[in-house]
Amino acid sequence: MKLLYINTCVRKESRTKILADYLVDKLNAEVKQVDVPTLDLKPLDEYMLNVRTQWVEQKQFDDALFDLAKDFASADIIVIAAPYWDLSFPTWLKLYIEHINIIGLLFNFSPQGDIIPLCRAQKLYYVTTKGGYNDDNFGFEYIKNLAQNFYGITDVNLIKAEGLDIYGTDISKKIIQARRDIDELLLA
Ligand SMILES: Cc1cc2nc3c(=O)[nH]c(=O)nc-3n(C[C@H](O)[C@H](O)[C@H](O)COP(=O)(O)O)c2cc1C
Repeated sequence: MKLLYINTCVRKESRTKILADYLVDKLNAEVKQVDVPTLDLKPLDEYMLNVRTQWVEQKQFDDALFDLAKDFASADIIVIAAPYWDLSFPTWLKLYIEHINIIGLLFNFSPQGDIIPLCRAQKLYYVTTKGGYNDDNFGFEYIKNLAQNFYGITDVNLIKAEGLDIYGTDISKKIIQARRDIDELLLA
């Protein structure tokens, strides 16, 4: 089982990463970890878009530019660690998505315009922690939509700990509870 661990946490003491590490350990698979903030990914400018589009049209995927997408498409399990920032997630994750969303590697389109998913994984875990409490998690909903509708990953799970920055919160208790949630999820 190949597990792709996509880490977008930047803080050394990241609570999100603590939980995601715990989950990855429990999943007991062959792990490839991608620490996105260390990759030096650039937003796609016009030059890069043109180069990439040409290669995609010619189905030439040999360049290292496509390695991230290949790793994603061939993984059996995906774990994403992304703290809750500004109602969604850090820019690192959007950058990563823009770099892997390659037509011909992650999905294709039929002549009628229907999406044909090309990813191998059937399970994706999205791990996040949040300073406060609210019901919105546009970041998770966005990833879930991409996973289910483009990548063909049907089983998408959210693991979260909330209220971590609220004065007086017992953070260790919250982390212990989230670990229990992970244990229960993996038993289900
Ligand atoms: C740039 C930034 C934006 C944030 N935006 C929100 C937010 O919109 N809502 C919220 O409840 N907490 C927000 N927080 C707090 C984080 O969600 C919280 O501290 C989280 O646990 C950080 O994860 P980490 O410990 O893995 O770094 C934000 C924190 C940062 C640094």
